[in-house]
Amino acid sequence: MSVTEIKKGIYWVGAVDWNLRSFHGETFSTHKGTTYNSYLIVDDQVTLVDGVYTPFAEEQIKKIVEIIGGRAIDYFIVNHIEIDHSGSFPTIMNKYPQAKVYCTRNAKLGLEKYFHEQWDNEWDINIVKSGDRINLGRLSLEFLEAPMLHWPDSMFTYIKEVKLLLPNDAFGQHLASNKLFDDENDIKMLLAEAAKYYANILNPFGKLVLNKLAEIQKLGWEIDMIAPSHGIIWRQGVGEIIAAYQKWAQGEVKNKAVIAYDTMWESTAMLAHALLDGLTDEGIEARLYQVPKTDENDLITEIRDAKAVLIGSSTIHNDILPTLSPLLDELVSLKLGDRLFFAFGSQGWAGGAIKTIEKKLTEAGMKPLGESLSVKWRPTPEELDQAREMGRKIAKEILNQ
Ligand code: FEO
Repeated sequence: MSVTEIKKGIYWVGAVDWNLRSFHGETFSTHKGTTYNSYLIVDDQVTLVDGVYTPFAEEQIKKIVEIIGGRAIDYFIVNHIEIDHSGSFPTIMNKYPQAKVYCTRNAKLGLEKYFHEQWDNEWDINIVKSGDRINLGRLSLEFLEAPMLHWPDSMFTYIKEVKLLLPNDAFGQHLASNKLFDDENDIKMLLAEAAKYYANILNPFGKLVLNKLAEIQKLGWEIDMIAPSHGIIWRQGVGEIIAAYQKWAQGEVKNKAVIAYDTMWESTAMLAHALLDGLTDEGIEARLYQVPKTDENDLITEIRDAKAVLIGSSTIHNDILPTLSPLLDELVSLKLGDRLFFAFGSQGWAGGAIKTIEKKLTEAGMKPLGESLSVKWRPTPEELDQAREMGRKIAKEILNQ
């Protein structure tokens, strides 16, 4: 995609990674690719905000040169040092060694360590703190540290003259598009991708998100455009994405249940479907997933806005099926605990799966919805009726809480 002027004198000089299908190693599915957004401000001082992922470094340089020709970059703002944004740092610095770099203290430490093999002690690295400002001529930059949103080095950059917020990962989505702005894309799809990003990356930091939003409000920053480092730029939907972040960060959930299970010989699957029937009888929104056949990040996104999670497993070796372990671990590490849970499953001569599910979900901070349901071998019609009745009870609990 070619350079695009997003505001007068401010250009998108990022890269679109159309074929990326997993991010953070193999831990985050990116069905629609992603972008590494970077912005070039042409003023009395030429300023680059953020780099791109390493394989796109030369492409970024080409875009910069297309705009400024033989002029140099004066300032290089590093909002975040994760490699998808700092990968092009050494390439940029080798081309523009006189550029003054501005970043947080943690970012400086991280850059030195990441790039120790290429490091040049002549590079001019400057530490900034919240409230620090830089004058560019017509425009100015103000910085706001945002530690753990989502790394210790993260910060936001704000340009008050044009009401533009450059928050790096925050408000982003893993989405490749040849349309740069929200109003040129399907807003529902954008919010769904932003929700997936939030659930799988930012969910553990909900309190920090709320504090940061409150801080921005207190600062009186007027924002009519948010240009994150992934996905599209918000200009029509600024209020919508901020409201969505408020809602997600407050842990708002719907009267909805997610049934996630795995099964060896369909007995646990029969229980899962009977529970679904009971929830459906009471009109509760419910989704059913066999875990190993389901994308884990999509499942986490479903669970993020569900009030109840019903987890089922056959017992093997006195424990859960190992296919369920990553999901249970993620529920703990992503702090998705403020929910109700129900454990179920089938066992042969000895149980164990239910105990592990209960232990893990209690560790996640979830509260049990009554006594777990365990059946031996194949569920009888009576046991399936019992599961259906349990589904109805769970539905009522969901409505009552
Ligand atoms: Fe998009 Fe935290 O890097």
